[in-house]
Amino acid sequence: MANPETQQRLHLVQAPHLEEFVQRILIGNGTSTEHATIVAKCLVQADLRGVDTHGSNRIPSYMERIRQKALNAQATPTIRQVTPVAAQVNGQNGFGFVAAHVGMKQAIAMAQEFGLGMVSVKHSNHFGMSAWLVKQALEAGMMSLVFTNSSPALPVWGGREKLMGVSPIACGAPAEPGRTPFILDMAPSVAARGKVYKALRRGEKIPTDWALDDDGNRTDDPAKALQGVMLPMGGPKGSALSIMMDVFSGVFSGAAFAGHVTNPYDPSKPADVGHFLVVIKPDLFMTMDEFTERMDYLYQRVVDSDKMAGVDRIYFPGEIEIITEEQRLSEGIPFADAEIESLNREADLVNVEHLKVGQ
Ligand SMILES: NC(=O)c1ccc[n+]([C@@H]2O[C@H](COP(=O)([O-])OP(=O)(O)OC[C@H]3O[C@@H](n4cnc5c(N)ncnc54)[C@H](O)[C@@H]3O)[C@@H](O)[C@H]2O)c1
Repeated sequence: MANPETQQRLHLVQAPHLEEFVQRILIGNGTSTEHATIVAKCLVQADLRGVDTHGSNRIPSYMERIRQKALNAQATPTIRQVTPVAAQVNGQNGFGFVAAHVGMKQAIAMAQEFGLGMVSVKHSNHFGMSAWLVKQALEAGMMSLVFTNSSPALPVWGGREKLMGVSPIACGAPAEPGRTPFILDMAPSVAARGKVYKALRRGEKIPTDWALDDDGNRTDDPAKALQGVMLPMGGPKGSALSIMMDVFSGVFSGAAFAGHVTNPYDPSKPADVGHFLVVIKPDLFMTMDEFTERMDYLYQRVVDSDKMAGVDRIYFPGEIEIITEEQRLSEGIPFADAEIESLNREADLVNVEHLKVGQ
């Protein structure tokens, strides 16, 4: 919700330039080129998909965690193969993007051989937008489930303290080449907390059904919302999904859980985030052609369904983000003045050239 008094101008940045800029800042802060490439690609993918709450704007907070030694930019995740279809990754308190990328690669390899691969990740950090992991599986032609836990932001149903994370649930299934795949990626709250941080950065108000302030009142002020709690979607069901993310990602992995994951904006200590990844080969019970034909039939049934009043078009989950990505790849990614200034301050600290922006 734009507030005309505080709203900032937006400038367009081209994706390849942004990716290189982010990569250089990461390298300047001690990340290897290999890992910086993974992290920069994930962040810019989020920006491209319109999930700019979980994109390059996270760089200043991630770099502060490195400077405060809460995150080890040089960590290399280790993999322990437990059964032919189950592996555990120890993120060694490095980037969540790297630990999850390594875990997803391992899960894909197991699924290619055995039809199924499951990876549990511990001692990791925030990995941003879950959909990039779903896309990693889709690029290998695989179905996937991607769970993570996160820092306390949401009360359990009936409670009023921050206890569970706004922990996203994501999953995906491939389509025929050139057709729309299924990509669900959703926080169990009415809105992801990143949307509140984005409104704060941009001087905007938020809808009053997103969060409560510290006194338990609905608020449109993002600063007050961050002091209070995010509201779960669908009442007790949203809070139960958030507990589910903690069971599979936290309890099961050996990472922090039950309200003990550190907020990515708190550079005082390691986050110890846990993730849970499952990859499934789509042609286990039929040929791949049959599977993708059935996916396409489902897609058509969904998008051709009779529309309710006021709706022009029905979208498949993930389709709006695919459309946004195509648009932003050709036009550029919008950034507000304050966001560019904040990224350029990080660039100055490690002698990287400023972002080049258009109009
Ligand atoms: N790593 C973390 O700790 C963390 C925590 C919270 C959120 N996140 C990320 O924040 C992002 C935003 O989450 P969100 O819940 O606010 O997402 P959202 O509400 O924007 O979208 C949720 C899902 O609904 C689908 N969708 C939205 N509008 C639709 C429409 N009109 N028709 C059909 N489908 C539609 C989207 O494609 C998406 O799959 C996600 O990428 C998530 O991974 C990450």
